[in-house]
Amino acid sequence: MTSIIPLLTEYEKEHIGERQPLPERYLGLTDEEMDVRIAAARRTLGSRLVILGHHYQRDEVIKFADYTGDSFRLARHVAARPDADYIVFCGVHFMAESADVLAAEHQQVILPDLAAGCSMADMVAPDQLERCWEELTEMEVPGVVPITYINSAAAIKAFVGERGGTVCTSSNAAAALRWAFSRGEKVLFVPDQHLGRNTAYRMGIALDEMVVWDPDEIFGGVDPDRLARARMILWKGHCSVHARFSVAQIVAVRRQHPGVRVIVHPEVPWEVAQAADDMGSTEYIIKTVTNSPAGSVWAVGTEVHLVNRLAQSLAPERTVLSLDRFGCLCSTMFRVSPNHLLWVLEELVEGRVHNEIVVPADQKHWTRVALDRMLSIQ
Ligand code: 13P
Ligand code: SF4
Repeated sequence: MTSIIPLLTEYEKEHIGERQPLPERYLGLTDEEMDVRIAAARRTLGSRLVILGHHYQRDEVIKFADYTGDSFRLARHVAARPDADYIVFCGVHFMAESADVLAAEHQQVILPDLAAGCSMADMVAPDQLERCWEELTEMEVPGVVPITYINSAAAIKAFVGERGGTVCTSSNAAAALRWAFSRGEKVLFVPDQHLGRNTAYRMGIALDEMVVWDPDEIFGGVDPDRLARARMILWKGHCSVHARFSVAQIVAVRRQHPGVRVIVHPEVPWEVAQAADDMGSTEYIIKTVTNSPAGSVWAVGTEVHLVNRLAQSLAPERTVLSLDRFGCLCSTMFRVSPNHLLWVLEELVEGRVHNEIVVPADQKHWTRVALDRMLSIQ
């Protein structure tokens, strides 16, 4: 057993961190060999298998996906193939957990590399959220409706579901906020402060009606008077990939490419969202850029694999650039390699299931409630 697959560039090695070790025979394979073997395993498994792929996955993996999409669309696709026994999720851990909760009883969800997590999801732990809820109760803050971004662990979704809240994704966050405000006065939004702030601000909620709850501080480190006036209580979490985008990058790209349009994911900081021309989920970004007039030039503020693919598919009619000229890599998404995909598929052919993601029974019910609410909110 070797711990790191020797097929990365120096940059990637530096950013990738530790990935799940593979048996020696799955290391050092050529791209061609992996392509042939993955295709063969898929053929053998036939309709028993469905592969889902998030837009941030790399080309060598996503080309094998039966369905691609953003988090919302992929959650919907889980129900599209009830005949499949195995759902191989090429994405990150929280996505596979959601798939397990939404899947039929007989279906098994598999994440090719168990180390494919999400640093933002790790920024809220169940005990921190429980303490926050208790402290809000102690402070006698009325009418709080919790919303968790889908980028969170099942235990967090279950907590929110049990307390009358919902899950949202970047494509239905505004609708989720409207839903919540029809039920209560304030929203506790976890774990991404930027998605919460950007979405609420766009809906007309002022910045001084928002407070940031720091889980490492007593009572979130929030001033009680500001809390009383606040409509949004934003958890102090963020995506380390999207936090890299800056206003300076937007200024530079506008200088270099006059007429460029800048489109960003709502996980970017507020100042960056304000300086951009447009903002939306990965699905929205792809649709908007694809449907733009020929000759358009775009700078895109999201993960580099999505941006590169968009650039290739739309050239030469449209020019698509990464807003970060060094490219922004989600190193945990990148952990899902073709080698890992090949390994789980060939093992399935042999009747062995590896890396199954199973949400504990005590969390399933309320996680399902919260996810069903999300799917019903348009
Ligand atoms: P989308 O839901 O827009 O695909 O975003 C998922 C994600 O992890 C972005 O960082
Ligand atoms: Fe998590 Fe950010 Fe990667 Fe999305 S891009 S999976 S939020 S670390």
